[in-house]
Amino acid sequence: MKNLFILLSLGLSSACAMAGSAFTDAEDAVTYRQHSFQLIRHNFVDLGDMMRGKVPFDAKRAEKRADALASLTTLPWEAFEVPGADKVKSEAKADIWKNLQDFQQKAQQFQTDALALQTAAKSGDQATIKPAFGNFAKNCKACHDQYKAD
Ligand code: HEC
Repeated sequence: MKNLFILLSLGLSSACAMAGSAFTDAEDAVTYRQHSFQLIRHNFVDLGDMMRGKVPFDAKRAEKRADALASLTTLPWEAFEVPGADKVKSEAKADIWKNLQDFQQKAQQFQTDALALQTAAKSGDQATIKPAFGNFAKNCKACHDQYKAD
């Protein structure tokens, strides 16, 4: 019981380390943004496989992926602005913090295109979804070329 108490208070004190944020420290923020991108990748790739005919088109599944992307694309960005999150070793290039406004604009465009994709996916029609998916997909490379190390 006493041990449990110590564990709990340790957990709480580290949880409070960055009050007012979802992160315990800068490393935690980096993990969060990287995991967000991985979830984006999973949903993106499945939808991409459907668009290319690699797996059969399934309107319900496409809608589910697009719904997920509409939410997931809102996630990574706050984790770039946590104090010290630019100092942790990751694939994020230092240029992000030199051009934060441009980076945020790219993030914003990405989210806008995700919402358009979500709307298109509600049609249940592959021919409607395809161009919206194409627009959405352009964002990955546009941002990675400039701001992500290989
Ligand atoms: C506005 C910029 C931006 C956009 C748009 C963007 N990314 Fe990224 N992405 C990054 C940055 C920066 C990193 C490096 C993050 C880090 O290491 O902390 C990254 C990392 C990743 C990673 C590696 C995560 C890990 O585990 O380290 C994957 C996978 C990824 N992105 C997939 C995608 C896909 C797929 C898309 C498009 C559907 C996309 N990203 C769109 C900026 C972006």
